[in-house]
Amino acid sequence: MRNIKKILIEQKTGKKYFVKDLDDNFHTSAGIISKKDLVKNGIVQSSKKKSFFCFEPTFIDFWENLRKGPQIVQQKDIGLILAKTGVNKNSVVVDAGGGSGSLCLSLANICKKITVYEVNKGHFDILEKNVKEFGAKNITLKHQNIYNGIDEKNVDILTLDLPEPWQVLDHAEKALKVGSFMVVYLPNLTQVKMFLDTAQRTSITVLETIEILERQWKIEDRIMRPEHEMLGHTAFLVFCRKF
Ligand SMILES: C[S@@+](CC[C@H](N)C(=O)[O-])C[C@H]1O[C@@H](n2cnc3c(N)ncnc32)[C@H](O)[C@@H]1O
Repeated sequence: MRNIKKILIEQKTGKKYFVKDLDDNFHTSAGIISKKDLVKNGIVQSSKKKSFFCFEPTFIDFWENLRKGPQIVQQKDIGLILAKTGVNKNSVVVDAGGGSGSLCLSLANICKKITVYEVNKGHFDILEKNVKEFGAKNITLKHQNIYNGIDEKNVDILTLDLPEPWQVLDHAEKALKVGSFMVVYLPNLTQVKMFLDTAQRTSITVLETIEILERQWKIEDRIMRPEHEMLGHTAFLVFCRKF
């Protein structure tokens, strides 16, 4: 997390700030935090006598501050991918398309190594910047079209967030280990159907198709009810295994 040096959260409002330069005082709407306080971890006071929590960034602070290009995979879906694939420090992963890096960086935060394919130059540039700022050494980026093939072999997990994943099935069969996982992220059911039909003719077995809906609750004094708005449909997640 090379680009973010410190996180500040205003105690009263919960407003969050990302500090990128420790050599200067930091200006907030609730006053200035002096540079000598920025190096501390704990509660610090602004020039307007407002309290702030000051601490080192974690992966999640970095993820929230990602430079955004194409639509990212949301945390509700990332969580299920991590849980259902059991990704761990020994996992060798391939991801496509990389997009803004939301999913691949979340995987890189856990796995042994990950190769990411991204075909669009503009998206690749955003991805490259995000990966550089994250500072991980286990990510290899490829400005390549994954429909043309997967260079890697003995892959434990393959994640696909692109329009026509059925074009990757033949390559996936060669790249994936027996017993390994493939996860396909698709916004439309028509795409899911096309993928399921094509997968039937391969050694990739579809296990389940899942949609996650996230609803927050408002909890304030005597109010305890679901929020009116929720994070509804983002995509269907198709979990597969190669046998
Ligand atoms: C919705 S975005 C991916 C977002 C990404 N998963 C994230 O979490 O930030 C889809 C990406 O797939 C890329 N893409 C589409 N077809 C591709 C292909 N055949 N090979 C590699 N990348 C591809 C697009 O350029 C786009 O950046």
